[in-house]
Amino acid sequence: MSKEAKLELEGKVYPLPTIEGSEGEKAMDISSLRANTGYITLDDGYGNTGSCISKITFIDGEKGILRYRGIPIEELAEKSTFIETAYLIIYGDLPTRAQLRKFSDLFTEYQFLHEDMKYHFESFPMGAHPMAILSAMINATSCFDEELMNWRWGKSNQFDVYAAKLISQVRTIAAYAYRKSRGLPLIYPKKAYKYTANFLHMMFSTPYEDFELKPEVVKALDLIFLLHADHEQNCSTSTVRMVASSQANLFASAAAGVCALWGPLHGGANQAVIEMLVEIHREGDDGSKFIAAAKDKNSGRRLMGFGHRVYKNYDPRAKIIKKACDEVLAKLRVSDPLLDIAKHLEEAALRDSYFVERKLYPNVDFYSGIIMRSLGIPVEMFPVIFAIGRMPGWIANYKEIMEDAKNRIARPRQIYAGRTLNHYVPLEERK
Ligand code: CMC
Repeated sequence: MSKEAKLELEGKVYPLPTIEGSEGEKAMDISSLRANTGYITLDDGYGNTGSCISKITFIDGEKGILRYRGIPIEELAEKSTFIETAYLIIYGDLPTRAQLRKFSDLFTEYQFLHEDMKYHFESFPMGAHPMAILSAMINATSCFDEELMNWRWGKSNQFDVYAAKLISQVRTIAAYAYRKSRGLPLIYPKKAYKYTANFLHMMFSTPYEDFELKPEVVKALDLIFLLHADHEQNCSTSTVRMVASSQANLFASAAAGVCALWGPLHGGANQAVIEMLVEIHREGDDGSKFIAAAKDKNSGRRLMGFGHRVYKNYDPRAKIIKKACDEVLAKLRVSDPLLDIAKHLEEAALRDSYFVERKLYPNVDFYSGIIMRSLGIPVEMFPVIFAIGRMPGWIANYKEIMEDAKNRIARPRQIYAGRTLNHYVPLEERK
């Protein structure tokens, strides 16, 4: 059977080639549509538009499957670490021992920011949101590294260094952003600590005393990073690819990704979940009133941490993190009234026909916020943690764009619905 699609338009038939991905995902190739027919496609929110062919992450939203480079997220969550998974995502294969050592050594080598960057941190007002600081400082990094500023793909073999520098320094910038927002002195990274432990050290140690690194806390945060490491063509990753398509440098592309991630419908949802739980608690509601409001389109409320553009089944990351959430809260002996509200919300929504019919399940952000709160991470840092975790995915997508010899600058079209030809009226003649 022919796999060619046909489009009939104004009495003419146009063949459209089809493409099938390695997991059977099907697409019609419309690259020549406008040239051949004069028509473009219109796809609100890009729900039906494939923007690229990618080999990094596979998601089957109907079945609740997520795999990085073919490996199920469940296996990685159980057996891997964030850094090993980062290598897998960026380079395509699990690293050998020697490759992992070299990768980790680069993080240590590049973990310090240029000392003059400290003055930039000082100029942000106290209370500045750490996502604003994060994007600004990632972008500013290239101003302190002339080679990076002038680096172009293929010009020198520096990608490995810049990728490691970005993953390493985003953690230092994130911790500094938090400390700056609280008016606390900056804490330098330590060579002896691994990636996630080092981040906690820079966040919570004082100049007099090192933070006690409880293994369950380090493990839980490492898992959160790992679960966020990539998620194919979401809003922020598409932004990174869009910026990269203009040949902007890696750090500029990643800074744009941070901005896209910040919104409450994307990476800001974990913060929004806690804010929602606090509001419900303050109003003395057990969640029932909030659920009723979330179902009413005029209320302006949504059940944050529920629903997903792609998953129409349980978010596989949510299943893993829910289990981790129960374990870590038990180990830390945390009792939190917000947790009871969260449990009630979850149970009630999963039984409610509004949510069931629309296939709205809890997503990863519903539980990650609760874990991070129990680890003592302040709420405004939640999207920052998401951004640290997502860095390997953005880097891998950047690499994919750069390696594609046919890469064209991303430039969508539009349907213009504004005024037709209209002429300039001098100021004195305007009514
Ligand atoms: N609460 C109440 N109703 C909802 C929700 C929600 N959280 N999410 C979707 N709906 C309703 C929506 O009103 C619409 O109803 P109707 O068909 O009657 O008009 C229907 O479900 C479909 O929603 P949609 O807005 O077309 O779905 P979308 O694919 O455009 O949006 C979403 C996906 C994640 C932005 C949305 O579900 C949402 O706003 N969720 C809350 C924010 C959130 O948790 N975001 C984190 C996503 S996971 C992290 C990440 O990967 O970014």
